[in-house]
Amino acid sequence: MGEKISMLKKYLLTPGPTQVPETVLLEMAIPMMHHRTSEFESIFSEVRQGLKTVFKTDNDVLILLGSGTLAMEAAVINTLNDGDTALVINGGKFAERWTQLCSMAGVNVIELKIEWGEAVDPQDVKKILDETPNIKAVLMQGSETSTTVYHPIKEVAEIIKGRDNTILVVDGITSVGVHDTETDKWGVDILISGSQKAFMLPPGLSFISLSKKAWGMVDKNSQKKFYIDLKKERKNQEKNTTAWTAGVSLIIGLNKVLKMLLEEGLDNVFNRHKINALATRSACTAIGLKLLAEKSPSDAVTGCYLPDGIDGKAFVKFLRTKCGVAIAGGQDQLDGKVLRISHLGYHDLFDTITAISSIEMGLVKFGADIPLSAGVKAAQEIFIKYIPEK
Ligand SMILES: Cc1ncc(COP(=O)(O)O)c(C=O)c1O
Repeated sequence: MGEKISMLKKYLLTPGPTQVPETVLLEMAIPMMHHRTSEFESIFSEVRQGLKTVFKTDNDVLILLGSGTLAMEAAVINTLNDGDTALVINGGKFAERWTQLCSMAGVNVIELKIEWGEAVDPQDVKKILDETPNIKAVLMQGSETSTTVYHPIKEVAEIIKGRDNTILVVDGITSVGVHDTETDKWGVDILISGSQKAFMLPPGLSFISLSKKAWGMVDKNSQKKFYIDLKKERKNQEKNTTAWTAGVSLIIGLNKVLKMLLEEGLDNVFNRHKINALATRSACTAIGLKLLAEKSPSDAVTGCYLPDGIDGKAFVKFLRTKCGVAIAGGQDQLDGKVLRISHLGYHDLFDTITAISSIEMGLVKFGADIPLSAGVKAAQEIFIKYIPEK
């Protein structure tokens, strides 16, 4: 039989960009409107309120036109001055970005290095802060997408809360809308996220909230900046407009997404991520794939090691081009060695089943001796527990 499968659907199961719901795509397709109009301002006002609810803060959540890294850069150059000292909790590729951004801004960096796959021990943060009282900011990730670890934001925040001259800056790019984050209650001074993650939108927007303590540092900041001057942004966004041309279509899409998230209920959103993560981890273990983050895994994405002898790059390419399933491989030291299977954003149980099933078929194609369907079965067993009764 010489026939081959010739038609494939595409399944985007990477930890960003993520799938965009059809209803949101349609919403964004309405004819362009001007951003300096009452029509747009009324949408912007709704969006501002919705973002505060999702971020669990009474402070404004500013919307920036640029991917998550823009908001990370904005956080650094609006709060930290040349010559200040910052502590970076460095346990992966995205944490390294904090170090790069701080160094660019002339900030002295102390790095608390964490082994890839491990979460930070908050007591190590406390020790460094006690020994070095002039640290102005602690910068960390919520979910470190490169290592699939979730760091204990709440416990780190607890240590920083009482220190008047230190702020906690959290890159929540793949943790906001996935793991519950009580921004105000816990004392997260700056929280950042991005549109192409749990916000189920195309890439292009980033979000940043600042506490009063953080705004106090912005007031004393003397770094040069133009496009990402947060004070200028706040002044405009308080009036339901933006300092520069707004990302009109994305913001219209965001309005729809926020309504969807709030209608689902934030606790249900967190549970959805938790159940898909649980099923994915259980499936990987059943297949015999060792988890990358064993003790503190992220509910946004699951990492697992490939069996010895399988080229991860070729494997990920095979799934994408021959099965239509896009998942992520490893970065830097994990390049070619791991798979990162997303369960982030607009992702349901059958997205997880698709990911697991394609991995199993791929492993067989690549010659691995694995029990076909063991992963799918393990995932199904988890899902059956959570599907509502008839
Ligand atoms: C945890 C984390 N931080 C930062 C970034 C960078 O965000 P962006 O690519 O939107 O600039 C990403 C992107 O995947 C991420 O997952």
